Amino acid sequence: MKKLNANTVGHIVVFGNEKGGCGKSTAAMHATVALMRLGYKVGTIDLDARQGTFTRYLANRFQTVMREHKNIPTPVHMPIRRSEAATLKEKMDEESAFFFMALEEQTRDNDFVVIDTPGADSHLNRLAHRFADTLVTPVNDSMVDLDLIADIDPATMDVRGPSTYAKAVMAVREARKKELGLGLRWVVMRNRINPTNLKSKRDIEAMLQDLSTRFGFTYIPGFSERIIFRDMFLKGLTLLDLEGAETGKGLSASQLAARQEVRYLTHAIVPEEMRIALMRRKKASNAA
Ligand SMILES: Nc1ncnc2c1ncn2[C@@H]1O[C@H](COP(=O)(O)OP(=O)(O)OP(=O)(O)O)[C@@H](O)[C@H]1O
Ligand SMILES: [Mg+2]
Repeated sequence: MKKLNANTVGHIVVFGNEKGGCGKSTAAMHATVALMRLGYKVGTIDLDARQGTFTRYLANRFQTVMREHKNIPTPVHMPIRRSEAATLKEKMDEESAFFFMALEEQTRDNDFVVIDTPGADSHLNRLAHRFADTLVTPVNDSMVDLDLIADIDPATMDVRGPSTYAKAVMAVREARKKELGLGLRWVVMRNRINPTNLKSKRDIEAMLQDLSTRFGFTYIPGFSERIIFRDMFLKGLTLLDLEGAETGKGLSASQLAARQEVRYLTHAIVPEEMRIALMRRKKASNAA
């Protein structure tokens, strides 16, 4: 495995799941803004530059900043474009090289590097997973999504073992440990939870709680289905950019609940030592 140069510091957070449309880009965007608003330096990388949801979300944000002279935190963003080289091997080499360059630069300059990935297996996607210090996997409330994580007996609902994606994550975790001596924190979050569907809520929650101990991930409740998670895309904003988002003043009950859901995710992402380091940094700058 290629090693990054010794000066790298940034904690790499990959949003991944081989399942399309489960909320990777939405969660990546909200986590990025939340981390920056806490005071961390964040760089972002889009490996799904062909679809480019994350890149467009951020481009919309830059435009809002320019147009409205808004003082909102924005990360340095690097999309990894598809190579136009002639052969598959050259394409893969070129794309990997772009990715490594972006990673080296972003980890050197930032506390966190947030990487959004495509919803399908690809060589770049696999590479990104190998560099994840923290992997966040959103899953929708459906057995189709759970099927990528666990092989479940349809008759008894017993878990027969990990399925495709979970197996791949476990293999990456083992390789990181052996080759780099590093761990892989895995966070699984539900997304688009429908609060009225109590039966499914309980079933999926119980299943994920059970899987978290078997497969070694942290389960967090994640995001409910809310318009606020999608309707600020065109302006590149999130609910954390709303007036009063910090104090909560003027936010509706749903916006406050959404803020809590994002905070929960951020809390799961930030390692304890980085939380303490940020507190120290803030205290030192207040005292200066
Ligand atoms: N919690 C939520 N509430 C409402 N809408 C949501 C929520 N999460 C995601 N969405 C919407 O669901 C759709 C898919 O989300 P998103 O693009 O983040 O998924 P993705 O995993 O990045 O997809 P892909 O695999 O295609 O890259 C988008 O239209 C997004 O706005
Ligand atoms: Mg996406």
